[in-house]
Amino acid sequence: MFLFSVCFLFISCNSSEQEHQDQVEILYHTHCIRCHGGKGNLGVSGAADLTKSILSNAEKKSIINAGKGNMPTFGTTLTNGEIENLVEFVNEFKK
Ligand code: HEC
Repeated sequence: MFLFSVCFLFISCNSSEQEHQDQVEILYHTHCIRCHGGKGNLGVSGAADLTKSILSNAEKKSIINAGKGNMPTFGTTLTNGEIENLVEFVNEFKK
């Protein structure tokens, strides 16, 4: 019961924007961090340095969706909306 109330409080105190940010961060941690790293520039398996990417959002979306070289395909695991959120998320590495 105690745990339940804590969770409930946690969820209800979070603004929806914060929740959205948490969700995309979890996605990135689950699927991307092992190659691209926490700052986007880890470069495992030849992963592109996301801090230096010059691709458009549409090009990034298509690479995440379909994969390229050692970059896996995520179109079957993630929804279109999740991929769009990840594009926005990785764009933050450039700032
Ligand atoms: C197994 C390692 C691996 C994982 C996991 C991985 N990537 Fe990649 N990623 C790569 C490699 C390698 C490239 C370079 C592909 C190429 O151009 O040949 C790349 C390229 C990219 C690019 C293009 C950047 C550019 O400027 O060329 C984006 C964007 C990207 N990854 C995002 C992601 C996201 C988001 C995830 C998680 C959903 C992810 N990657 C997971 C290895 C990985």
